[in-house]
Amino acid sequence: MSSFPATRLRRLRRTRGLRDIVRETRLSLDDFVYPLFVGPSSQSNVDLPAMGRFSVDDLPREVEDLQARGIRSVILFGIPGDKDEDASGAYDEEGVVQLALRALRDRFPEALLLTDVCLCEYTSHGHCGVVRDGEIDNDESLELIARTAVSHAEAGADAVCPSDMMDGRIGAVREALDDEGFPETPIVAYSAKYASAFYGPFREAAESAPSFGDRRGYQMDPANVREALREVELDVAEGADVVMVKPALPYLDVIRAVREEFDLPVAAYNVSGEYAMVKAAAARGWLDERQAALEALTAIKRAGADLVISYWTKELAGWL
Ligand code: PBG
Repeated sequence: MSSFPATRLRRLRRTRGLRDIVRETRLSLDDFVYPLFVGPSSQSNVDLPAMGRFSVDDLPREVEDLQARGIRSVILFGIPGDKDEDASGAYDEEGVVQLALRALRDRFPEALLLTDVCLCEYTSHGHCGVVRDGEIDNDESLELIARTAVSHAEAGADAVCPSDMMDGRIGAVREALDDEGFPETPIVAYSAKYASAFYGPFREAAESAPSFGDRRGYQMDPANVREALREVELDVAEGADVVMVKPALPYLDVIRAVREEFDLPVAAYNVSGEYAMVKAAAARGWLDERQAALEALTAIKRAGADLVISYWTKELAGWL
């Protein structure tokens, strides 16, 4: 390689045209998924606009607006009116997500409707599985998680996204979907989901903070990356179609490691805390939200993510 002064890397940075033509990573709305919270009534969120919630009646208007902006993909989260020990709202045919899917499916045939499959928003204790003797019972939880996934497929989901981190859940969901006549429904597995402080705003929005203990007994230790590859490997073996790393920004090395080791599409979840930090700093005038968000989202793509779930998706549509 020749060196200075023959080589001057600044040459290709001199004008916008030069910078644009050599750019390695680009953002496209096609790769983004917008989270939507569905609850018994609509409620806006002033500080974190993407984290407001919609009633089943109001939701179609929001999806229509998203479609008009060029956003096709959404992931639905349910905030049920009632919670119980067995998370019955999660797999209830008349549950909020099931009703929302039915309200959207026929009206928006082109929309890509993903659903988060977990019990934590529906359990009275806020854990992602069934509690027995103060412990989260893995195998007993699988049945309810699989049942939830099937009920979403029945109501019209295009893909289901298990986010509970129980062992064996992808196999259980795959088997249940196949048995119930949904062999074509893909599974987007939250494979490497870390026990993260960055879920704070989500838990407030979804009222899903655990009432005792924490999630470290099932979500991953932030210190581990080799273990993430084992999680992904198991999910692939059990039938995952897409694997996900979550959160995104503090785990770019994990996204990169998964990208290099596997050929499946890799998703990254740019979580609520990542969004909230930038929003809060921007509100104080400490940074420019648009620039910071575009930089963060570009970094997630550069690390190797094929698709990104982000609360900025709606604003991104206006920025691109
Ligand atoms: C459900 C779930 C959570 C998130 C997505 N699915 C919360 C959690 O695990 O506590 C977090 C998303 C976010 O912070 O944006 N288990």
